[in-house]
Amino acid sequence: MKGSLLYEGKAKKVYTTDQPQQLILSYKNDATAFNGKKKDAFEGKGRLNNLITSKVFEYLHQHDINSHFIQSLNDTEQLVHQTTIVPLEVVVRNVAAGSITRRLGIEERTPFTPPIVELFYKNDELNDPILNDAHAYHLTDVTESELMQIKGMALEVNEQLKALFKDVGLQLVDFKLEFGRVEDGSIVLADEISPDTCRLWDIETGDKMDKDVFRENIGNLIETYENILQRLEAYTCAK
Ligand code: TMP
Repeated sequence: MKGSLLYEGKAKKVYTTDQPQQLILSYKNDATAFNGKKKDAFEGKGRLNNLITSKVFEYLHQHDINSHFIQSLNDTEQLVHQTTIVPLEVVVRNVAAGSITRRLGIEERTPFTPPIVELFYKNDELNDPILNDAHAYHLTDVTESELMQIKGMALEVNEQLKALFKDVGLQLVDFKLEFGRVEDGSIVLADEISPDTCRLWDIETGDKMDKDVFRENIGNLIETYENILQRLEAYTCAK
């Protein structure tokens, strides 16, 4: 049963439940970019990101990745284990796009082998600055071994998701993960994995099929996200 509103973020609301260590994530239709400077709302976006994230976390669960995800409840809501979020955004990049092209002058579409893992500090006031490991130890309570575990999990998620998306004709360019601590202190994958938090390019056409259609005004967000969901549904039905 849904309890009271605990927290509202840019893309989701978090509610308590009648179970002490379980929460409901409710996906909103709002879209923001550039730390909230660009804003809009798209009817149906919350449903698409909830259903896509649910498919992705179910796939990762089948591939032995520990996460907060329990189950999808309805079109826009999912049940998760309560975690204390580690305030780091862990980005894995297989191909250059987005901020790394601007920050380091690397041409878009340049491949990275091996993939690059970056840490950002989850802090809107500071505009989510990039961090090194020493900064992360100073600013958060992660230990050296936990950070190694987090980066290892991020690279494992990358391998699993590269394979999943390749099977549905998409190149996984980059993505952002968040991790949280459950009651016993162990670290699990948390938050969402959706076209809001990944860059996905169509393998045949090279078309951008993620939130960059909104960031760069180059396409219809709902049609794009619907296409991603349909590909994942066709894949999971075929398995
Ligand atoms: P970036 O190129 O803007 O650093 O983004 C890297 C990846 O992280 C991209 O797939 C989009 C995702 N991302 C988020 O999920 N949330 C954010 O706040 C930002 C900046 C990026």
